[in-house]
Amino acid sequence: MKKGIVALALLATLTAAGQVRQEIMLSDDWQFSRDQQTWTTVSVPHDWAISGPFDKKWDLQTVAIVQNGEKQATEKSGRSGSLPWIGEGFYKRKITIPSGFKGHAELLFDGAMSEPTVFLNGQKAGYWAYGYNTFRVDITPFIKEGENLLEVKLRNMEESSRWYPGAGIYRPVTLILTPQQAHIDDWGITTRTELHVKNGKGVDCAKLVVEVPIISDGKDLPVIMELFSPDGKNKQWASPAAMKRGSCKAVASFMIPDAQLWTPETPHLYQLRITLCDGKSAPNVFDDFGKALDKKTIKVGLRTVRVSKEKGFQLNGETRKLKGVCLHHDLGPLGAAVNKAALIRQIKILKEMGCDAIRTAHNMPSQMQMDVCDSLGMMVMAESFDMWIYRKCKNGYARFFSEWADKDITNLVKANRNHPSIVMWSIGNEIPEQGSEEGRLISIHLQGLCHSLDPTRPVTQGLDRVDNALWSGVAQTMDVPGLNYRLHRYQAAYDKVTHGFILGSETASTVSSRGVYKFPVTPTDHGVYPDGQCSGYDVEWCSWSNLPDDDWRWQDDHDWVIGEFVWTGFDYLGEPTPYDEYWPSRSSYFGICDLAGLPKDRYYLYRSHWNKEQHTIHLLPHWSWGKGNAENRIGEVTPVFCYTDYDEAELFVNGKSQGRIKKVTEEKNQKLDKRAFAVEHRLDRYRLRWNDVKYEPGELKVVVYDKDGQPAGEETLPTAGKPARLKLDVWTQQSEQSPLLSGGTGLLKADGNDLAFVTVSLTDKKGTLVPDASDQLTFEVQGAGTFKAACNGDATSLEPFTQPTMKLFAGQLVVIVQAKKEAGKLVLKVTDKQRGLTASVPIIVK
Ligand code: GAL
Repeated sequence: MKKGIVALALLATLTAAGQVRQEIMLSDDWQFSRDQQTWTTVSVPHDWAISGPFDKKWDLQTVAIVQNGEKQATEKSGRSGSLPWIGEGFYKRKITIPSGFKGHAELLFDGAMSEPTVFLNGQKAGYWAYGYNTFRVDITPFIKEGENLLEVKLRNMEESSRWYPGAGIYRPVTLILTPQQAHIDDWGITTRTELHVKNGKGVDCAKLVVEVPIISDGKDLPVIMELFSPDGKNKQWASPAAMKRGSCKAVASFMIPDAQLWTPETPHLYQLRITLCDGKSAPNVFDDFGKALDKKTIKVGLRTVRVSKEKGFQLNGETRKLKGVCLHHDLGPLGAAVNKAALIRQIKILKEMGCDAIRTAHNMPSQMQMDVCDSLGMMVMAESFDMWIYRKCKNGYARFFSEWADKDITNLVKANRNHPSIVMWSIGNEIPEQGSEEGRLISIHLQGLCHSLDPTRPVTQGLDRVDNALWSGVAQTMDVPGLNYRLHRYQAAYDKVTHGFILGSETASTVSSRGVYKFPVTPTDHGVYPDGQCSGYDVEWCSWSNLPDDDWRWQDDHDWVIGEFVWTGFDYLGEPTPYDEYWPSRSSYFGICDLAGLPKDRYYLYRSHWNKEQHTIHLLPHWSWGKGNAENRIGEVTPVFCYTDYDEAELFVNGKSQGRIKKVTEEKNQKLDKRAFAVEHRLDRYRLRWNDVKYEPGELKVVVYDKDGQPAGEETLPTAGKPARLKLDVWTQQSEQSPLLSGGTGLLKADGNDLAFVTVSLTDKKGTLVPDASDQLTFEVQGAGTFKAACNGDATSLEPFTQPTMKLFAGQLVVIVQAKKEAGKLVLKVTDKQRGLTASVPIIVK
């Protein structure tokens, strides 16, 4: 009944006087099947594999991971998440076309994993090879009035990915109906900012140049453009004289005094409304231009991007170093299925760390993610490929590259070029061809294609075989020479390229597990332990990589290093290095935050260096050894680190000073040790370390000192008492507070999609985390929401994310709750049967 009303309403709007476009999200009422026998009703975005079960059989491989320097093939498990993503999947759904519809009908897929074939009323209407790209299908020839059948077939081949790719229609699908054949070509719209600087003193005014191609049967149709200020109060009209008649393209420019520029700190967005008119006499609004045939509104950020020898990377003419992280596309326990609340949470967590850029490793981003980056202020390197012609895994993108690369780059750039957040394109990651003439020619070609579609942004690629890429000329070819790791080759690369700068396109790959500490504390590139975890002291890396401290020395001491993209901001499914051969281990250890989005200690190390707005004082490890499960360390040497932006601090154990120490500057180090910073003081420039502290229960306290030697703040870490309560901290996208701080009651939108993230911590009666707790919890949601997923960040856990029970890991986990479509109140109840504890939290849905 309800559906009928919605359909009728839709028909009414389309046939009514407005006659402008409809963009209809096809979210609900999809039928999904793996075998075309049994069908279930699902909503899109959907990831069929995320509920598991985890099993090594799904992606067991006998391979040598060449990128990791391996020569011998060995058995690998968990490489792509050990979830059932391989095989076929089928989706179908009805769509309704209004009676009398004579216009253009199109489906916009933002990504479907993978090799989607699209059928309309039984006829093949479209296909796209790459699962990560957005694509459009013109269904005009296949539609009929009334009910139509849309079907999508997907196929995921084994060994086609180096990580968990997800499975299914994991990004939105939109039906776009433009009732007239003449319509605005959305992907053809381009916007370009020029900044006018007054006497070299700041921006006087901005010029926005807009081009809008029109699809028509050659008719010369007028276009109106209106630009609304970020607060919506001011409106400018484009000068009609600026429109090029007869070219089927409208060109306009706006001069904007007192322009509010887009930056990560001030993500101002203007709205541009484009109206295509019929050019005949018509009523009201557009007297001269006739009635509206099509309308499209896009968000625009006024900003410029430039890289140059003298000034490095500049946003709006101001040099800044990119403080970036690489992100895989999965959202941990939600899998690949995109969700706005989850994306907002990620970006907010990163921003609070002081991060200002992300790299969409190693593929095209979702529109939803780019919208979030535009509105919250996060710069983006939008990447495309992890391989070209030579394969990194048996059935990877190399199967398609020759035929599809140009089409893929074209869609990437066309669909995304109006996002102000994107500051750079990347044509590839660690491409095996980087050392050859063939690689140089492909680089020139793909970079040229990006330039031809978007002359406003520089192009890069991540190069790991630096000497080869310098020898072949690939590094020299790129607008931005991007180096992955290989700090020891930074100087050589800088000397050889003539750019005057290089970018750390991928850095660190430090590994750690949240809340797990290994003793003795030894910096190492081959730390593996029987429990499948890595040390939380942030002293472990891989043979090809390094520690954050190593990267910062290069960035801080050399203007010509224009920034970095850390591998990775969050843990992701698959690639469980250094445990590629260890079962069970199915997700990464590289994240600054774990798979649940909870910060590891490393988060505060980056925050202490990157966040210039707020102070950081963070102590590690936890101070609760010898109770519960944590090993007994009473009397044992238990090094203490403090991650802080202050240079000096004094540490106390139960009031006894452990010494007042200072960070070791590069100059001081040179005096102390002529050999290399890398040896004794490698970790002392950015961290404060007390290496000889003996553990005793009680209280750990640090007092930090400012530049004048005055106490400026302190942090204490008590030993936890008996586990006494479950603490629930709620975050929703409407929360004022940061995703990392304690919340109160949450508020969700009653849209069937919105998510609340509830951090559950087991604490003593004073609220101190019990850091070794691994109790089995159960979850129950009543009222206006449903249980969606849970995750504890343990890379070795085989508990499915989508079952309402999970063990705590290092005392914590995150429960994700989804709003229903009806307003009301939901209550999440968490139970710890073992200890007889329960806690619940109400969340309002409206
Ligand atoms: C890089 C690669 C990433 C990831 C990382 C792990 O070489 O580009 O995709 O595999 O290593 O350290």
